[in-house]
Amino acid sequence: MLFKQQALLRQKLFVLGSLVIGSVLYLVARVGTLDRLQPICPIESRFHPPEPEQIPLRTLQFKRGLLHESRKGNDTKEQIRLHNLVQQLPQAIIIGVRKGGTRALLEMLNLHPAVVKASQEIHFFDNDKNYARGIDWYRGKMPFSLPHQITIEKSPAYFITEEVPERIFKMNSSIKLLIIVREPTTRAVSDYTQVLEGKERKNKTYHKFENLAIDANTCEVNTKYKAVRTSIYTKHLERWLKYFPVEQFHIVDGDRLITDPLPELQLVERYLNLPSRISQYNLYFNATRGFYCLRFNIVFNKCLAGSKGRIHPEVDLSVLTKLQRFFHPFNQKFYQITGRTFNWP
Ligand code: A3P
Repeated sequence: MLFKQQALLRQKLFVLGSLVIGSVLYLVARVGTLDRLQPICPIESRFHPPEPEQIPLRTLQFKRGLLHESRKGNDTKEQIRLHNLVQQLPQAIIIGVRKGGTRALLEMLNLHPAVVKASQEIHFFDNDKNYARGIDWYRGKMPFSLPHQITIEKSPAYFITEEVPERIFKMNSSIKLLIIVREPTTRAVSDYTQVLEGKERKNKTYHKFENLAIDANTCEVNTKYKAVRTSIYTKHLERWLKYFPVEQFHIVDGDRLITDPLPELQLVERYLNLPSRISQYNLYFNATRGFYCLRFNIVFNKCLAGSKGRIHPEVDLSVLTKLQRFFHPFNQKFYQITGRTFNWP
């Protein structure tokens, strides 16, 4: 009798033990799988099943891993073929404006799983030597991407270089063109600051901004000064309009990209016909830098290089006012043409 009871107890313990071990093994396996499948994506989107037209989250993981290797040139030809990787001509180009926030815009758009950026400025259309190398050379400078992804490059010199609109038109007359602008006087000072820093690095002296921006003979704005000319956005845009209709340009507010980037990025997503994927999770304000930085996933985030977001030198207020008055009519024309109005003075 006692023996029978003991046998029954052992049997029950065995069944219970098996259940406990089985559950533990299942949980371990599940957590392991979850870890591996954990989507690299904003927290909030983890709770929503993907809509049919959404880009698979795997694409994003793929982009951060394999594509990174491909860009570094560590991929074999066989791997490239196996993964269907291609080097595509850009479907969209950030054509300018220098110091408008072109790097920030490119890096932020690259947060999107369907966007692949060309890391370097290619300077294909503005540099005669590069242009003479031909379109295959240009394509060869593009990053590897999946066929459904879009490639974007930025070369701010395109906006102000005479020959560029025609050359881009010849490559692709329906290409999407992005222009990021800042308040023109601030942009001019930012442009000056970049050049000044370059001179200082070489232990050279340089003129004061005031002396460059104002013609000493006439006391008027010096329109020969490149930093001033670049800020006359409408003049450059008008050259582009000889080739492309105004609808083909999307104007990005570079000042708002600094203070509140997400709405600007969402407008670009719409313009590029991309599903909205960049979220607040991807952008966080870094108080030390004084700028928004980028969060790709739980482990990988980055701020732009220190050369972005320089401290500007103090400029005589009367010079700033003179410049603002000078740019005012050009700005009005720019608003009129583009249909986008800014609170510039
Ligand atoms: P400043 O250095 O004058 O502040 P570009 O990339 O076209 O050269 O533009 C540089 C500008 O991008 C910087 O000008 C900076 O203000 C702006 N910018 C916009 N968003 C930024 C960000 N998140 N981090 C750093 N700079 C940013």
